[in-house]
Amino acid sequence: MAKVIVSIRDLEYTYLPGTPLASVALRGASLLVHQGEIAALVGPSGAGKSTLVHFINGLLRPQRRGQVLVLGQDLGAPDCDLTSLRRQVGLVFQFPHQQFLERYVGDDIAYGPRQMGLPLAQVRERVRWAMELVGLDFEAFVDRPTFSLSGGEMRRVALAGVLALRPQLLILDEATAGLDPQGRRQIHQVLRRLRDKEGMSILLVSNDMDEVAELADTVTVLRDGKTVLAGPLKEVFSHPQDLSRCGLGYPAGYQIVQEFAQRGIDLPGAPLRLAEVEEAIWRALSS
Ligand SMILES: Nc1ncnc2c1ncn2[C@@H]1O[C@H](COP(=O)(O)OP(=O)(O)O)[C@@H](O)[C@H]1O
Ligand SMILES: [Mg+2]
Repeated sequence: MAKVIVSIRDLEYTYLPGTPLASVALRGASLLVHQGEIAALVGPSGAGKSTLVHFINGLLRPQRRGQVLVLGQDLGAPDCDLTSLRRQVGLVFQFPHQQFLERYVGDDIAYGPRQMGLPLAQVRERVRWAMELVGLDFEAFVDRPTFSLSGGEMRRVALAGVLALRPQLLILDEATAGLDPQGRRQIHQVLRRLRDKEGMSILLVSNDMDEVAELADTVTVLRDGKTVLAGPLKEVFSHPQDLSRCGLGYPAGYQIVQEFAQRGIDLPGAPLRLAEVEEAIWRALSS
């Protein structure tokens, strides 16, 4: 079993506690992320997903209840080293323009490595590497103003800016929401490459069950600030009623398998990913 790099247990959190505006966001949230996996965090809007991930790089600190352990550090400890943590945990927000710090693409992606005090040659090398990973041509994009980018390009620049820090853990908070299918597919390819070739661990916050089914190794379901279901992908999707109770849909692959079952054709192995479903259909048809 792979090493656990994020372990959150029974976390509670209230915004503006003790004021008339107090709002309870987490009431017993738990989350595990293992080294080298894509872990999905899903749940309806307002469930507390963004609040929860803000604990992982120390933007929020535990109040009274709950434990947050990230890459060997206890975020509840007063001597926790947030600077080193923020270099190891890269967070990509939902709205990329919130992330841009510079006017030009190259400068923006270089911002993090420059802050780390890396020599110029290394900064340039990292910018090139990160741009290549996300599929942005270096020469074509390095001098483009960030305001002139399309939505999909903005996401990729924001992602490259975080990757340039070479984080051990990459967190995407609904970073593919609102992208067109092609833009989303490109990001998916990047994420798979990061996991498979770079050994990066990825926490994907998403509301898109198709995306989760295609990419995730494990899934954690959050509802009203509480973790209600967690485990390997297939295990979590074997409780479809629980998912629908949380206002979440089913992935397309799951629906296809159900429709075949209703017509008396069993597709064995409970396939979820479309490629697996297709293979199972071919096997069923040829047997
Ligand atoms: N900065 C904030 N101040 C007060 N309440 C907040 C703040 N951010 C989020 N909340 C509240 O916390 C709850 C969880 O929100 P959030 O973590 O953004 O959920 P999600 O990301 O799953 O949509 C919601 O009820 C939301 O209104
Ligand atoms: Mg959110």
